[in-house]
Amino acid sequence: MAVHEGFRTTAGGLRDCFPLRLYQKAKRLGVWDPAAFDFAQDRRDWQGLDELQRETVLSLTSLFVAGEEAVTLDLLPLVMAIARDGRIEEELYLTTFLFEEGKHTELFSRFLYDVAGGPTDLDRFHVPSYRKLFYEELPAAMERLLTDSSAEALARASVTYNMIVEGVLAETGYHSYHESLAANNLMPGLCDALVEIKRDESRHIAYGVYLLSRLVAEDATVWEVIEARMQELFPHALGVVTETFDRYEDGITPFGLEMSTFTEFATAQFGKRYDRIARARGKTFEEIDQEAGE
Ligand code: MN
Ligand code: FE2
Repeated sequence: MAVHEGFRTTAGGLRDCFPLRLYQKAKRLGVWDPAAFDFAQDRRDWQGLDELQRETVLSLTSLFVAGEEAVTLDLLPLVMAIARDGRIEEELYLTTFLFEEGKHTELFSRFLYDVAGGPTDLDRFHVPSYRKLFYEELPAAMERLLTDSSAEALARASVTYNMIVEGVLAETGYHSYHESLAANNLMPGLCDALVEIKRDESRHIAYGVYLLSRLVAEDATVWEVIEARMQELFPHALGVVTETFDRYEDGITPFGLEMSTFTEFATAQFGKRYDRIARARGKTFEEIDQEAGE
């Protein structure tokens, strides 16, 4: 039977720590409304696109919208594991995290309906590597936390969710897509929304880096689990990009989108976070907390 052995709030109050500061930030920045974006110009832009351009918008949006739905569906076991552990400051942050993923799902879903007429066959864009990550690896790693909240299970879940799905795929996809739409002066409503979504995602990833660093600081052997999981999944993340671009004959892609922009950005971001978590070995909680905000 579950019992509480005490409450933080009656023993000195909430602790000032990185997740609590992230929570404060999220309350200010994470409250934008997906229903408030004006897609009127986006609709006009859509009308003017040729067939290949439309397919490209649909293909990327299909990857984004299902990815957002997956992370919305699959986050709860992590929230539960953190709550069971009595980490109230981290849980406060996670309440904003799930809300934001829900809004990202709403935003892309609304875009597809309002701008592209609500197509119903978009899973045809889910290439094999995408299916491996979003249909299998993500739900399995997250669902495991319902019965196993060991450091190893938490590390595998967070690498899958925060480092690969968010840190490699979402961040890279939104960055590259936003840059090319803006450069072509297209879809201003979607571009504005992508700015908000990217800012939310950077907080999510920062929390993941913090969580993994904390796990490594508590037990240095967890680093081996993290490293193995990253090496296991990174090729699939790159596979999502290469398999998506493989669909274009002769390498001709609309909007100046280039595969190398995606893969170079993804590899650089991945490398930075890999190094940061590796350096957490032997560090104290205070050092992890301090460096998380940098
Ligand atoms: Mn998201
Ligand atoms: Fe996210």
